[in-house]
Amino acid sequence: MADLRVKKVKNFAAELRVPGDKSISHRALLFSALSNGPCHITGFLNSEDCQSTRHALEAMGVVIETCGIATELTVEGCRGQFRDPGKEIDCGNSGTTMRLLSGLLAACPFSTTLIGDASLSRRPMDRVAIPLKKMGAIITGQGDRCTAPITIKGKPPLKAIHYDSPVASAQIKSAILLAGLSANGKTSVTEPHPSRDHTERMLNYLLVKNIREGDTVSIWGGQTPESRDIQVPGDISSAAFWIVAAAARDGASLLIDQVGLNPTRVGILNVMTRMGATIIERVDTTGCEPMGSIEVHGGRLKATEIGGAEIPTLIDEIPILAIAAALAEGTTVIRDAAELRVKESDRISVVAANLRKMGVPVTEFGDGMEITGVEELVGAEIESLGDHRIAMAFAIAGLFASGETVIKGVECIETSYPGFMEELALLQGASI
Ligand code: S3P
Repeated sequence: MADLRVKKVKNFAAELRVPGDKSISHRALLFSALSNGPCHITGFLNSEDCQSTRHALEAMGVVIETCGIATELTVEGCRGQFRDPGKEIDCGNSGTTMRLLSGLLAACPFSTTLIGDASLSRRPMDRVAIPLKKMGAIITGQGDRCTAPITIKGKPPLKAIHYDSPVASAQIKSAILLAGLSANGKTSVTEPHPSRDHTERMLNYLLVKNIREGDTVSIWGGQTPESRDIQVPGDISSAAFWIVAAAARDGASLLIDQVGLNPTRVGILNVMTRMGATIIERVDTTGCEPMGSIEVHGGRLKATEIGGAEIPTLIDEIPILAIAAALAEGTTVIRDAAELRVKESDRISVVAANLRKMGVPVTEFGDGMEITGVEELVGAEIESLGDHRIAMAFAIAGLFASGETVIKGVECIETSYPGFMEELALLQGASI
């Protein structure tokens, strides 16, 4: 298990770019594979999670070529005519791979078993199995939450359904919309709050008819995505670590270019602004996804409340927002985030335990936590529990801590952010 040692930085001024968006990279692969010809993808995130999706599609007969650099790929669309992989598909640590692929496999005329690592094997798959079974697929998994290994026997043509999702989850919505592409008629999903809309945007971009009416998205079956080139913007969830590092440091400045600025993902920017940082966004909305630059100027942060419809717009950023809260004046309250308990780790209890080790008072709730900011964090030994966002969030915490902070088990960072540790070293070097 590799450790990362982090020391406090004073002030810094930095300009950087972050790797491609993870959610959009998965979708770029899946929708290109479903399309009617070659799609060239640029800005692809070549991380372990996205490789899981790539390898799954290759096992299903899709031809994917790397074009010189790891972030450029060409996918030969096969109009959804996938081959029986004839063996289990390993989704690694990637919930997006397992859940979105389930939607695609529900419409394939063969049976496939999906497996994952220990963390993924604990995560609930009933949330996609329930609607996909209503559409006609036969799905079996382990226990009452249908955990992996799961076996999906596709039953084309699927039945179109309307599904009222109990959770605001882009993974559930996308699995249903992917299956809906092969269903008879109109399939729709209603969510309690809107989740990230990358699937809908990509469907529009690839000329697949779908509509949004309030919190409901609908798609018509029998359509084939049109092959087009796809540009993946930088991942705002990766940018979030540097945004908080700059926002919480009075006098620090940061510029991040070519980053995704989709309104369903920018909750972190709204919260950091509320907490007192100065953030300037420049957005270009001409492509499939809004993207642009973010300029951050740090200051003394103040506590805030985070909950309700804002949660899906920053769900992956809560570990790093908890670090911002620990550095803010006053008590920050995070509510309505019970979903955190079923992410790569139980992010409520892991964040709370690690923050306490760094001297921060935290009260845990079933659906969130209350964090009281301190003047300075105390360097400590931090357990990542194999969760990439915990490892990175606490590496940033180490930049604000006395003494040394040691993050145990940082290999998991490869899940979403290859190059994070190099960037962290550069930032420590840019300390002024
Ligand atoms: C994702 C959606 C979110 C997010 C995950 C990626 C996606 O999960 O936490 O990291 O790509 O659709 P949920 O949809 O389960 O909230």
